Amino acid sequence: MKEQLKVFNNSDCFIEGWYWAIPAKELGIGKIKAVSLLGKELAIFRNFEKQVIAVDAYCPHMGAHLAEGKVEGEGIRCFFHNWKFDNEGKCIEVPCLNKSLPVNLQIHPTAEKYGIIWVWTGKKSPKSLPFVPELEKEECDIIVANSFIKNCHPNVLTINAIDAHHFNTVHNLPLEINFDKEEINENAIAFNNTTRGGDDSFLIKLIRPFYRNEVTYKICYWYGSTGTVTIGPDFLHFYIMFALRGLEGGKTAGKTILIAKKRFGLLGWLFNRIVLCLTWLVGNYFAKGDTRIFQTIKFNLQTPTPADRAIVDFIKHTEAQQALSWGSWGEVDGFNN
Ligand code: FES
Ligand SMILES: [Fe+2]
Repeated sequence: MKEQLKVFNNSDCFIEGWYWAIPAKELGIGKIKAVSLLGKELAIFRNFEKQVIAVDAYCPHMGAHLAEGKVEGEGIRCFFHNWKFDNEGKCIEVPCLNKSLPVNLQIHPTAEKYGIIWVWTGKKSPKSLPFVPELEKEECDIIVANSFIKNCHPNVLTINAIDAHHFNTVHNLPLEINFDKEEINENAIAFNNTTRGGDDSFLIKLIRPFYRNEVTYKICYWYGSTGTVTIGPDFLHFYIMFALRGLEGGKTAGKTILIAKKRFGLLGWLFNRIVLCLTWLVGNYFAKGDTRIFQTIKFNLQTPTPADRAIVDFIKHTEAQQALSWGSWGEVDGFNN
């Protein structure tokens, strides 16, 4: 890639989209959490109506961090001088004046899905939340599994799943992997695999009878950062989501989410626990082999080969998306102004 890239692997900006903030379980009713998200400090709380509200962290009075305050009814009260704000961020009480003042907290749209609280980073109306294409309309069982920090940009981490050649060299899978790209919408791109070769391998001989045609391996990327992997035989697909966001210094904070289509009844529940455990094993197998690469890589695709075609497609896809500045997103003509 000779041309100058503006968005891909650039830590000064990120793609406008939904980003994971915290696991939903960690935010009970009446709780507030301090969250650093893409260069901005937020206070995220769940009010007594069970709504999740994300606001810029610093109080418009004197700058106290609102996560030090407390949830009251639908809103939040600052700890320092007890100003109260409602669920739209409006100041509704200044105790020492016995009235309200015309100031607002900057609030950001939130959503809950796959056991995660997501925050929308744009100024305009939110677009689609990330989903696994096969499970768009399905109810799911999930486990929010491990958290991880990696020493490289989220874009560099995501492309690992479509780095066709490294499946042979790092993961010892003797397959020739070819990816067909599918633009799902302007913010989501999928890569479907058609596999060849490997017939001499014991592993492939063992699993071949379970596959109607080819090995199913499909990746869908949202906002260049959150990836969903679908893998497995026709009768049992495993689904793993890697939700990523950038950290200071070009690093990545991620969550692995294991997903299974909901099965009902006690047997369904038990079956899904087994499926989710197997999903965890599959995810770990792929995550482990590459760990050391992401500690030291200085990504620079100077000499692409035909096996890097999907990576080049992904880079083009990220370059075409709306970029926001690190730390100053969602401001001025924001969501609630
Ligand atoms: S700093 Fe929040 S009320 Fe004074
Ligand atoms: Fe890998």
